[in-house]
Amino acid sequence: MINAMRSFSADELDKIKVWFRAARVSDFPENGGACVRYGNLQVAVFNFTRRNEWYACQNLCPHKMQMILSRGVIGSQEGEPKVACPFHKRTFSLTSGQCLNAEGDSIAVFPVRIEDGYVYIGFAK
Ligand code: FES
Repeated sequence: MINAMRSFSADELDKIKVWFRAARVSDFPENGGACVRYGNLQVAVFNFTRRNEWYACQNLCPHKMQMILSRGVIGSQEGEPKVACPFHKRTFSLTSGQCLNAEGDSIAVFPVRIEDGYVYIGFAK
């Protein structure tokens, strides 16, 4: 099992009620993202191959309320994994969800677990 949960505290992981099976690992492009739905929520999932890590966050960019972050460019800033919105380049940490280059709203991030070739995303409800 590979996971990208180290940025989540034990307390936060305790609150996870659902591990949602999002899709197969092979459904996600290397070093890129794809959008999955969990109920009404759109979630951007990133297969960050260069770092051998996975991340998930809300697909909604809070700047202009665009459903777009799964198509953002991923990279690292001082070791921090980040996604840049393709519209106006607001950049968000994929571990904390904090906006890194502007005063602005942060985004929700979710833990990811890889098991038996599937990607699971953790939700508190
Ligand atoms: S809509 Fe994402 S940065 Fe403007």
